[in-house]
Amino acid sequence: MDIVDVETTPFEGQKPGTSGLRKKTRTFMEPRYLENFVASIWSGIGGVAGKTLVLGGDGRYFSDRAAQVILRMAAAGGARKVIVGQGALLSTPAASHLIRKRGTDGGIILSASHNPGGPEEDFGVKFNTANGGPAPEEVTGRIHEATRTIEGYRILEAQDVDLERIGTTSLGEMEVEVVDPVADYADLMESLFDFAAIREMIAGGFRLTFDAMHAVTGPYARELLETRLGAAEGSVRNAVPQPDFGGGHPDPNPIWARELMEAMHAEDAPDFGAASDGDGDRNMIVGPGMYVAPSDSLAILAANAELAPAYRDGVRGVARSMPTSRAADRVAEKNGLAAYETPTGWKFFGNLLDDGRVRICGEESAGTGADHVREKDGLWAVLLWLNVLAASGKGVVELVHDHWREYGRDIYSRHDFEGIETAKAEALIDDLRGRLADLPGREVAGRRIEAADEFSYTDPVDGSTAAAQGLRIYLEGGGRIVLRLSGTGTTGATLRVYLEDRTEDPDRFGVDTQEALGEVIAAAHEIARIEHHTGRTEPDVRA
Ligand code: G1P
Ligand code: ZN
Repeated sequence: MDIVDVETTPFEGQKPGTSGLRKKTRTFMEPRYLENFVASIWSGIGGVAGKTLVLGGDGRYFSDRAAQVILRMAAAGGARKVIVGQGALLSTPAASHLIRKRGTDGGIILSASHNPGGPEEDFGVKFNTANGGPAPEEVTGRIHEATRTIEGYRILEAQDVDLERIGTTSLGEMEVEVVDPVADYADLMESLFDFAAIREMIAGGFRLTFDAMHAVTGPYARELLETRLGAAEGSVRNAVPQPDFGGGHPDPNPIWARELMEAMHAEDAPDFGAASDGDGDRNMIVGPGMYVAPSDSLAILAANAELAPAYRDGVRGVARSMPTSRAADRVAEKNGLAAYETPTGWKFFGNLLDDGRVRICGEESAGTGADHVREKDGLWAVLLWLNVLAASGKGVVELVHDHWREYGRDIYSRHDFEGIETAKAEALIDDLRGRLADLPGREVAGRRIEAADEFSYTDPVDGSTAAAQGLRIYLEGGGRIVLRLSGTGTTGATLRVYLEDRTEDPDRFGVDTQEALGEVIAAAHEIARIEHHTGRTEPDVRA
């Protein structure tokens, strides 16, 4: 087997975003595109020689080919070993766990999360560091720098490694260990929760349904929910991972998980419904007739985590991304927990978790997780919910209403305006940024503006900073509007408008979210001049 030196030139735009490098699959399939980025990862981490890495992903189209390229480039770079999930599959949280459990130098996850997959859809490559979490800005910055100056890369000429067969083989001088992607992760889950109590609840007639959306969590959910917890066979739907996710978006929200939503709104709805995304780090929780907003789910889990064995000694602190509703802060305040507000993206939770300041974190975008790994974790959230339900004896709807009665309700929605011309989206943000200082005191759509600023963050652990992380406008009475541009899209810009209002009046707990947010929505459009800049009056998605 020969190592080949290939000459190359940089590609524009190989800049890791909120979560790794995401591009159209066709772009990744262009000659040298993937190779350039992988070689730049090696540069960004000080070379791959002597290192041990984990490799896996959500099984989307092109993952199998990409995995072989990465293995051959790792071997050519002198890596000691790569641990690969069978079939190149590993959910994002399972990859994070494997990195930590085996003490590796990091890992590569092949995924574009909840974005659709296929030759005309999206692909992604993300590097995680030795703590199991997404590479911090400092590392992604070095990787990006390397992509701009790259002149060549090294790759081994070799046959494909058989990634279907569990066991150890070698590729040149490098060891390749193919592992069962599910077992270690399932054991970890079993160590955190009271499986006996959940099993008893299910045996007593509690019915659940989980939608794996033809993505990676199918085998994990089957093992955990059906095999280990005794849920009826077929409780996990769309359970076989497919390279194109069955043609849909593997995005657990009421629109893309419509089948699940219908089941949960039917006459004979199960007691609990849930879904996860392409790579298994997101979650959606649904009760009979009730979608639980992710920001509420975070707050409810933080308030009740002590019912699960792993959190019996308390959760110490809770962190949320800035656009996430402030429901979790109220739990923290009332229960004497530390509370942190971080920029969007899981990487910002890493230091807080490593430092033991928080044990539970979450984002409004259906991400919740804890200190057992360094990624958000969809099935973890599902299992903690089940543990809380089993231990409290309450149903989903009752638990949510009890929570609102105790803490008030932070009514919440995110409006996405997709496929906007990048220059126009940036102009909207620049325009509003320039007017922020003049906003306080003004009245818009019947609401007085109390404060307005641009969010910037200083990490309390290592002092690193992140500027320009979103514009915040606070309204009298507890309302809030946040605007930022997505960092995960692959075409044009997506403007995210996060809308929030507060009520402590139990008569308003049952109101329709969009209706209840009417004033805040009107204020957001007026303040940000959305139609003027983008021509849009309605969002593409209301999450
Ligand atoms: C989106 C979400 C963010 C999440 C990220 C990765 O990023 O908003 O919360 O961490 O996906 O799953 P965005 O597109 O907003 O930059
Ligand atoms: Zn994901």
